Amino acid sequence: MKSIFPSRHILPVALLAVFSVNLFAAETRPPREHLSLDANWKFYLGNDWPNALRLDKAAASGGPASEKFNDTAWRSLDLPHDWAIELPFDKSSDGSHGYKPVGPGFSKNSVGWYRRTFDLPAEDSGKRIWLTFDGVFRDATVWVNGWLVTHHEGGYYPFRADITDDAHFGGKNTVTVKVDASKFEGWFYEGAGIYRHVWLDKTPPVAIAPDGVYVYATFQNTNNAPDGDAEIHTEVHLVNRGAPVSNLTIENEIYSPEGQPVGTINDLRNFSEPDGLFATEFTAKRSTLVNSPELWSPESPKLYKLVTTVSVAGEIVDRQETEFGIRTIAFDSEKGFLLNGQHYEIQGTCNHQDMAGVGAALPDALQYFRIAKLKKFGCNALRTSHNPPTPELLQACDRLGMLVLDENRIVGSDTANLQKLEDQIRRDRNHPSVFAWSLGNEEWDSQGTAEGAAVVRTMQNLAHALDPIRPCTAAINGAYGQSGFVTVVDVKGFNYNLGSIDPYRSEHTNATFIGTETASTVATRGIYANDTTNGYVAAYDYITQNKSGALVNPVTWGETAEQWWTFYDARPWLSGGFAWTGFDYRGEPTPYNWPCINSHFGIMDMCGFPKDNFYYYQSWWTTNIVLHLLPHWNWPGKEGQEIRVDALSNCGEVELFLNGESLGKQAMKRNSKLSWQVKYAPGTLSAKGYNGGRVVAETKIETTGEPAAVQLAPDRATLNADGADVSVITVSVTDAQGRVVPVAANKINFALEGAGKILGVGNGDPSCHEPDTFDGQPPIKTIPVNDWRWKLASVPSRGGLAPEYANDLDDSAWNTLKPKTDVESGDQVLSEGQTAVFRAHITLTEADLENPGVQVRFGGIDDHGWVFVNNQRVGESTDRAASPTFDIKKALRAGDNVIAVGVSNETGTGGLNPDVNVELVGKPVTADWSRSVFNGLAQIMVQAKKDAGEIKLTATAEGLSPATTTLESQFCRARQSVP
Ligand code: GAL
Repeated sequence: MKSIFPSRHILPVALLAVFSVNLFAAETRPPREHLSLDANWKFYLGNDWPNALRLDKAAASGGPASEKFNDTAWRSLDLPHDWAIELPFDKSSDGSHGYKPVGPGFSKNSVGWYRRTFDLPAEDSGKRIWLTFDGVFRDATVWVNGWLVTHHEGGYYPFRADITDDAHFGGKNTVTVKVDASKFEGWFYEGAGIYRHVWLDKTPPVAIAPDGVYVYATFQNTNNAPDGDAEIHTEVHLVNRGAPVSNLTIENEIYSPEGQPVGTINDLRNFSEPDGLFATEFTAKRSTLVNSPELWSPESPKLYKLVTTVSVAGEIVDRQETEFGIRTIAFDSEKGFLLNGQHYEIQGTCNHQDMAGVGAALPDALQYFRIAKLKKFGCNALRTSHNPPTPELLQACDRLGMLVLDENRIVGSDTANLQKLEDQIRRDRNHPSVFAWSLGNEEWDSQGTAEGAAVVRTMQNLAHALDPIRPCTAAINGAYGQSGFVTVVDVKGFNYNLGSIDPYRSEHTNATFIGTETASTVATRGIYANDTTNGYVAAYDYITQNKSGALVNPVTWGETAEQWWTFYDARPWLSGGFAWTGFDYRGEPTPYNWPCINSHFGIMDMCGFPKDNFYYYQSWWTTNIVLHLLPHWNWPGKEGQEIRVDALSNCGEVELFLNGESLGKQAMKRNSKLSWQVKYAPGTLSAKGYNGGRVVAETKIETTGEPAAVQLAPDRATLNADGADVSVITVSVTDAQGRVVPVAANKINFALEGAGKILGVGNGDPSCHEPDTFDGQPPIKTIPVNDWRWKLASVPSRGGLAPEYANDLDDSAWNTLKPKTDVESGDQVLSEGQTAVFRAHITLTEADLENPGVQVRFGGIDDHGWVFVNNQRVGESTDRAASPTFDIKKALRAGDNVIAVGVSNETGTGGLNPDVNVELVGKPVTADWSRSVFNGLAQIMVQAKKDAGEIKLTATAEGLSPATTTLESQFCRARQSVP
């Protein structure tokens, strides 16, 4: 590709000295602060304030959106958080979403509220303050200090707000987020809540815009082959929200993977707006050369760093570091995908962001854990089906070496969707791992239409304008005709449909291709016969016979690993493809549904434990010598019966033995596997792999004894004490000789001491209904407040005291309230314009008052109410549809207490809904964590706290000897965060 930016500046030597001084200044006084806002949120699940958002007046929103709202009784938690995973399984809920009672039909569990307070020092005044959400599922309404600052529906896209105008400098600030997960966006488990990071950025008024740095490399020779010098293009997008400035310098320095400076660009601009009133922006596009660059690839993920420094009149105002890679990508109609000028076979998997123990809320460490697991079987590319990824996933792919097909969620060329696509591309386009944009997946209603083609063309044009180096594709299933997406996208994406690919190509000889989705192989780890009762599928990955004798794939549209890979491997022009899926995920419990609650498509299960197919792919996708046998060899009662034994291997020949006796040697064909029928006898099933007649691999499977012990094996024994890092610990049940018992199902109990906490548990059983997390709402004891008395009385507006609120008042002659609970039709005792006082008594003990929180929850106050406890004002309600809740602990005493509510009924009839409860909110109990092993294995994730120290995890099970593992959480420079 040719350079599109002619200007190239190499920094004069004299200026270098000036800039090194400035850089030093930047280190001592960072002009930009990029702070994590993940810790210390308050959370409440329930749609109790449906009218919190007020549109009639600014900064007047009510309920939790108001700064005055008291959230002391809410649960405390850190982000990322997915509340759907905390809910029990429910057969009546949507199976494709994993049978969790959230979403359509489950309004009670579908709205969650998050609140976070933080201080902004007075010295920050004059800075711009940005609030960024990497992803919220879904429909987020965000207030800051009672001001509505943004509303964003998409569950997978980043969004942000400039909150400078609404912020209190030198005071407390409150962020409130209402998350409404009542609608689905996909057909798979999607989680619910703020399941990605939240950031607070403080910048000077003149600063690099959010996602304002773009850097990419091209080579100047024909076909963009990676020879000679790389041309590094930078685009720096600046924004000025302050006074006009002049003498503005943007400097870009490039550092090699070894940290050596290898290139510099600088530019002098005036950045001003004639009237100076409004925000101004511009983008500086420049380029420079880097000699003999080190190329990025999955096998050698070399990363350069671009440091962008912005100065005004010599003073540094902003500085940002951007990791990037130098590599070229192209698609060719004959050679398929070219990475750095060479054919590169895409050995890919599709994946959702969903994992055992945590649901959609993956701490960064788990992104790295999963990418490392995928690489183990030779996967070199990941499709972020069917939505934009979490940024840290891309960072893990850049650093560990994994190509990414970065997928959009919603197909549409309306303004809102194009904005989302733009936000996605601007955020993700610096990642060398991202090699193409996928604009959509299986859009049944539009993928074959002319309108669909027009929409996708607009999206593709936008992608090209924002990112000249990456092509676009779309995952198309079946619509390969004369109209639709396939006529537009740069690279034709085929989902399944192997039979359509050659005919299409014969008519479109210049087309380029990629297998956007293939396989959909179903298999349950460690299971070797289909089991419709438990919802398990045999892991042989074979075509079975149905009742009438016909050969069938358990998934009618899918292919076995061997089928699709043999097909693709024979056609380099197809570029390779993405198997559905690398990991199992919640939802889509194909083919049996309940009691199965998660998918079986994974090459690994929900925990990342390999299924047998893992070794099929490892055989043909890596250069390791692989020899793996299946099934396990614990079949008591089947003595003398034939059992199918498969060898997954890339050895030229494999010989199978039972208890030392050869069962024959077979030659392996490329991309295939071998099978024997073996009469079962307990003992040792073993195999030898030969290349050229020489034994190059040996393996064995033994019949084990009974479960005898628990074992714990952490993936990492040392953690960073940053409050986020995670060790993933494999739990296994072994026999007396230390061999994993492949059919064990023991329940394991966990106890943890020290500088960490348990984050989640799992076992990969797609039909297990045990909880993945034992964290939850603190225990609440409810005391009904009955016997309400009321009388018409004048009620001071603005919440002043009325004589009728006093404790020592005799209200026995007042009216009584009938116990009704529906606020709309409730005790409508007041007519329009009337005011009244309602009173009730509640007796509490010293022990009751020891609870960390005591709150009063009203069924409803119609229209306006001021709430007093023992003559002290505790809150105000302005939303008659809400169930207002007030923290009353400070106003209470042991013995008799009086709750008095002054009510003003403005329109229609009104009053107080007598469904009132005092709630004693207990200390969050340290739950007893447990999980059964599934076919011998389970998983527990332990997260470091912010204090360094030892973490001791103990696992016990009835009748088994226990296990303990000790992790070390070490002091580290944690990512900067808002206190
Ligand atoms: C595909 C679809 C995936 C998943 C898969 C299951 O058609 O794109 O999201 O549903 O089928 O086999």
